Amino acid sequence: MRKFLLFLTLTMLGFANGADAGVRIGKEIFDDWLKKQRLVSERKILKNISPPGTRRGAVVASPSKHDPNYFYHWVRDAALVMDVWMRQLEGYTPLLRNTELEKLMWDFLDFTGYSQSTPAYVGVGEPRYNVDGTANLDPWGRPQNDGPALRASLFIRFSRYLISTGREGLVREKVWPVIQRDLDYVGEQIYAPSFDLWEEVKGDHFYTRVTARAALFSGSEMARDVGFYAKAAWLSSQAAVAESLAFSHFDESREQIVENMNRQDGIDYKWSGLDVATVLALLHTRQKPLVNLTDVLVMQTAEKIERMFHSIYNINKNLDHLGTAIGRYPEDHYYGGNPWFLATLAFAEYFYLVGNLDEGDRYMRRVRYHVDGDGRMDEQISRENGYMLSAHDLTWSYAAFLTAYEARQRLLSSKIK
Ligand code: NOJ
Ligand code: NOJ
Repeated sequence: MRKFLLFLTLTMLGFANGADAGVRIGKEIFDDWLKKQRLVSERKILKNISPPGTRRGAVVASPSKHDPNYFYHWVRDAALVMDVWMRQLEGYTPLLRNTELEKLMWDFLDFTGYSQSTPAYVGVGEPRYNVDGTANLDPWGRPQNDGPALRASLFIRFSRYLISTGREGLVREKVWPVIQRDLDYVGEQIYAPSFDLWEEVKGDHFYTRVTARAALFSGSEMARDVGFYAKAAWLSSQAAVAESLAFSHFDESREQIVENMNRQDGIDYKWSGLDVATVLALLHTRQKPLVNLTDVLVMQTAEKIERMFHSIYNINKNLDHLGTAIGRYPEDHYYGGNPWFLATLAFAEYFYLVGNLDEGDRYMRRVRYHVDGDGRMDEQISRENGYMLSAHDLTWSYAAFLTAYEARQRLLSSKIK
């Protein structure tokens, strides 16, 4: 507020360089918001981990219990959320002490180990668990094979951290068995159709294949390092298969990566092949990149996605200083088909990672425009009126903010050097 008043005063006094001062103050307000939003996001995530009434280590997708009910532990969301704490263990400016971060990871490991062993329809390809750790047996799109891949990649990083702090014994005894159950499944299912990350289409998906490839390659290196040579060889051959399957989504003639192929079941109205999942696939596998973020087809795909959403959402028609609000895919009907925070934040992160601060900031400003005054972020933003929609306090939205924010911080510090 004080800054806002100061801005008004400067403008009223008719400062010769009022515009400059305005820009500078505007920038300070934006920077303050970023810092505040970081703290809010971390706090909100912690509230959604092991909340009251859940088994320790559960990560709920949202506290929302109806319309929609997201009070479950989704394997994919949980892995992407816990990535935030893993990054801090790996050295990114921590909010918590290492002992607290480790505790979060061990709880998550215990929950995972328990859930892997409970009765389920499709083994570890089960998409979501009740908060007591048992598999949710409601009718649902299953299997979803990206989940175990994301989770294995995360625990492999945790293992690396433990090894670097002299705890290889614990890795062999406690962590590797959990990783191996996920990797065996991912490796065995590599040709099998699966539901996509949006839980809607059964078929072959770029996101699923890219995350599988990364997990299998890192898993192979890990297996070798802890002395399981035969396993290492098998994992690396499955990884190579996953890699060639991932490249089969590159369509030079359409000048884009096509997210879904060979649909067998589920919704049948995705015709464009454009999906923010393609960008997310690359962001979520940065430890084992399939291609550069500046690869021509990647850039063409991102550009097509942006142009498409710009043209279909009313809230993108005005406010040109803000980045385009991005949705999952253009044909989306879920809650009417709207922009999502995590999709828009993926674009912010993408631009920071390729070194384009201004463009990344435009997407961040878009996000800032739609969050509420307390920094709350839900799942979606109405395409018509810009108000938030669907699951409130979506845990993944906060994680997406934090990874984008980190990319921005890293870009800024690389510019100072
Ligand atoms: C719930 C899923 O989580 C969501 O992704 C999907 O769009 C709807 N079901 C409709 O199938
Ligand atoms: C629906 C999304 O489509 C899916 O990706 C997510 O896992 C669930 N909601 C839970 O957040």
